[in-house]
Amino acid sequence: MLTKSQIDSEKLNPESTFFKKVLAPNQETSNLLFVLDNLGRLPTDFNGEMFTPLLCHPNPKVRLLAVKNIGKLKDEQYLEVLSTFACNESDTHTRRETVSAIGRMRSEKAIQILTEFLKDTDPKVVLQGLRALLYFKGHPQVEEALDTLRQHPNEMIREHFEYEKTKKLKTVAEQCHPTSLDSLKNVLVCADVQDLFPLIPDESVHLTFTSPPYYNARDYTIFQSYNAYLDFLTAVFKETHRITKEGRFFVLNTSPVIVPRISRAHSSKRYAIPYDMHPRLTDMGWEFIDDIVWIKPEYAAKNRNGGFFQHRKPLCYKANSITESVMVYRKKTGKLIDWNLRQYDDETIEKSKVLGEYEKTNAWEINPATDKGHPAVFPIELASRVIQYYSFKGDLVFDPFGGSGTVGRAATEHNRYFFLCEKEHKYVKYVKKAWDESPLYTSEFNVLSLTDLKKNFLHPHYI
Ligand SMILES: C[S@@+](CC[C@H](N)C(=O)[O-])C[C@H]1O[C@@H](n2cnc3c(N)ncnc32)[C@H](O)[C@@H]1O
Repeated sequence: MLTKSQIDSEKLNPESTFFKKVLAPNQETSNLLFVLDNLGRLPTDFNGEMFTPLLCHPNPKVRLLAVKNIGKLKDEQYLEVLSTFACNESDTHTRRETVSAIGRMRSEKAIQILTEFLKDTDPKVVLQGLRALLYFKGHPQVEEALDTLRQHPNEMIREHFEYEKTKKLKTVAEQCHPTSLDSLKNVLVCADVQDLFPLIPDESVHLTFTSPPYYNARDYTIFQSYNAYLDFLTAVFKETHRITKEGRFFVLNTSPVIVPRISRAHSSKRYAIPYDMHPRLTDMGWEFIDDIVWIKPEYAAKNRNGGFFQHRKPLCYKANSITESVMVYRKKTGKLIDWNLRQYDDETIEKSKVLGEYEKTNAWEINPATDKGHPAVFPIELASRVIQYYSFKGDLVFDPFGGSGTVGRAATEHNRYFFLCEKEHKYVKYVKKAWDESPLYTSEFNVLSLTDLKKNFLHPHYI
């Protein structure tokens, strides 16, 4: 019976004939798998020749583990045997491992072979080849080969390629990831948000939570057409993407709306805003993370099924809508969330932890809110959850459609800064008054015009 400790001690004895026996291709497959899987780190003088006959083994797992072990040796003498093997191997997992093993050799002799793998049919093999070739960045043959990936049909490969290309440019942004500009902290700008954006530098905000105008369902905004409305939101969220820090979140609250019928001869029209916006958002570089559903109590819904209730005729059914979408996106990056976490010190992470009860599913039951000063507010509970789950203490939270300032209040309650924009003077005045009169909000609150902001804000565009 083979044991792990036996393997460990035999490994360290260069004279041992043990592995010749236990790695012979005619050994029981289960024994072979056990040894190959338990070899761990190999001494540099380990005889890798023992693995090569196993590359012809009928069991794909044996072949895979043989390749893995050859890879550990990082020795270019196996380059030829591995490249021949990879060309004939049908299992894509094993092919990928072979490319990785060749990459680990860090040998210029492997460049040609790795370049061939960029034509593989499995995108993961191509990605492995790309990673291996990046070690030789700047080498003319490698640059030429990598250029062929610019138009690759697979999105992950194109993204990886773009990310690697722009990696160096990010270092400045990385340095100031947890910080934000003082001139944007606790500020409400009274302006059309499209005029505000040109003043704001790239990567300024940590989180955006917003609820845009609901097409022409309310009278505070009127668009000429639904397409014009979608184009407007697209332009706003593209700029939001630009001013968002790397890998940070954008949370969008919308719902399908009904534009009432103009007469009994017409029907009302329903517009599926979240669904129509989604492809536009992912196209502009927001990565889809979650679809949270905000569920309101039944009494909060406008009754649409009175007719059906009476007649029960098929096709006339209309559901009362008690939900809204809270779609969560992340600014697309090659970096993992762990990278974002590493930008903060331990104390901030500790203080920002969401302790106690928290929402475990994507169905959030929250009562709607009403506000005497604004016709379409979202509840502070909704903003509080989003802010706690998707930002750290001290972060800057942005709302391009500030309304009654709910995001500002929730951000303050959770020790974040806010940066809001609202185009209607009446709402801005209302927010400021409510803030000044509330004993809850003691931190400063600056209402600025675009001109004030330009003066305060020495952005290179304006120097
Ligand atoms: C759905 S409401 C947001 C309500 C907010 N979430 C709250 O809880 O109070 C949308 C707001 O966007 C504002 N708005 C519409 N178009 C705008 C624009 N181009 N720039 C800035 N604000 C705009 C409207 O005046 C309205 O107050």
